[in-house]
Amino acid sequence: MTEKRHNDAFSSNFGMIAAAIGSAIGLGNLWRFPYLVGQNGGAAFIIVYLIITLIISTPILLAESVIGRRGGGSPAEAYINVSGRKAWGGAGIMGMITCFMIMSFYVVVGGWTIKYLILSVAGQFHRGAIIDSPTMFEGFMTSTTAPIIYSWLFIALTIVIIILGVQKGIEKTSKLMMPMLFVLIILIGIRSVTLPGAKAGIDYLFKPDFSSLNFESLLAALGQSFFSLSLGACMLITYGAYTPKSSNLTKNAAIISVSDTFFAVMAGCAIMPAVFAFGVNPTQGAGLVFVTLPQIFTQMPLGGVCSVLFFFTLFLAAVSSAVSLFEVITSSIMSLGKKSRSSAALIVALVLVMTGSLCSLSQGVLRGVTIHGMNIFDQFDYVSANFLMTTGGLLTVLCVGWRMGKEQFVDEITSGGTINLPPALASVLFFIIKYVAPIVIVATAISIIF
Ligand code: TRP
Repeated sequence: MTEKRHNDAFSSNFGMIAAAIGSAIGLGNLWRFPYLVGQNGGAAFIIVYLIITLIISTPILLAESVIGRRGGGSPAEAYINVSGRKAWGGAGIMGMITCFMIMSFYVVVGGWTIKYLILSVAGQFHRGAIIDSPTMFEGFMTSTTAPIIYSWLFIALTIVIIILGVQKGIEKTSKLMMPMLFVLIILIGIRSVTLPGAKAGIDYLFKPDFSSLNFESLLAALGQSFFSLSLGACMLITYGAYTPKSSNLTKNAAIISVSDTFFAVMAGCAIMPAVFAFGVNPTQGAGLVFVTLPQIFTQMPLGGVCSVLFFFTLFLAAVSSAVSLFEVITSSIMSLGKKSRSSAALIVALVLVMTGSLCSLSQGVLRGVTIHGMNIFDQFDYVSANFLMTTGGLLTVLCVGWRMGKEQFVDEITSGGTINLPPALASVLFFIIKYVAPIVIVATAISIIF
């Protein structure tokens, strides 16, 4: 076990890519993307999403890893080192807080996933089983103790990986889980598209309907792209610090974006044809995964096996994303509080046990405690996704574009001139980071507020 963070680093570039893809692929891909596609005009939305991801999100992803690798250390240290100003440390602290908020509700959903994985393994969702899935889910998530205990189990699993360290924990598990995720989603996709009546679902995903595209859809695409690629919460700053100096950061950013997007589209192909084949309303959110899908499993051939595969996929995706959220906070506490990895991780776990339980209880007994009509769970989700992550993304591009400057940026992405990158590409990337991305983020923020 590595106790000092200076010894923490990925052993190879593939390790870095696997860990970052593990972070990116999560609940955002498996349920949020498919239903957003449905609500916003199918293929038309996918096209907009692809353009935004390519033009805006991928350069931001690159900017984050540039700050991380050049600055080194925890996010706050990295910001201070590359900007030369102490005040920029605040951007790193904000990233830590963002991750804390996301993590608080993520562990609750992670706990639900464990519960549903156990139910599937126990054969509850086999073909022909009679279940009342809305009551089943509602009853479980609103109860007091069970979901809390499952969320603690989820925290415990994550913390083991964190305490094992960057190489032996995060890198090793990511290298194992990431390929599994792709194999599993492809298997489920094949089952889904071969169901009778699946074609309507495929049409829904791939037939563009530009008339249902509006300004709202653009906002939805940008927000989803940020969430799905884990942007604006210092994830890639933290992982960037562990990246080998020789790695080609631009290529890595492209690989991470493409893989995450491919997975999201595959998740759409796995879920939507099944939803259509069984005539269910496709535009619902979280309920799609925990209410609708179990119902569908009980009606389809090989449903029992598929339920195990699906909830196992969801579980792996949730764990590998949670690990990255956990690592941002742990690395920050290690450096701010001068703590060892294991004590920092334990501190994070303890606080999470409390905030996670609060989020869990807010679905049940604490349902009445609301701020602006939203319970604590939804409030954490809303504030982190709509406010903190976009502000984090803005600070990242401002730091690289306006504090660091082009010369250092190019030096970093070419690893001190050793990597051949077309100068025009570097210029375009820098232009996007300096001007386009900040304008788009600010314009989005303004339109959300008004
Ligand atoms: N990207 C993850 C998903 O799609 C969520 C996530 C993990 C995340 N780590 C993050 C989001 C860091 C923002 C920041 O589910």
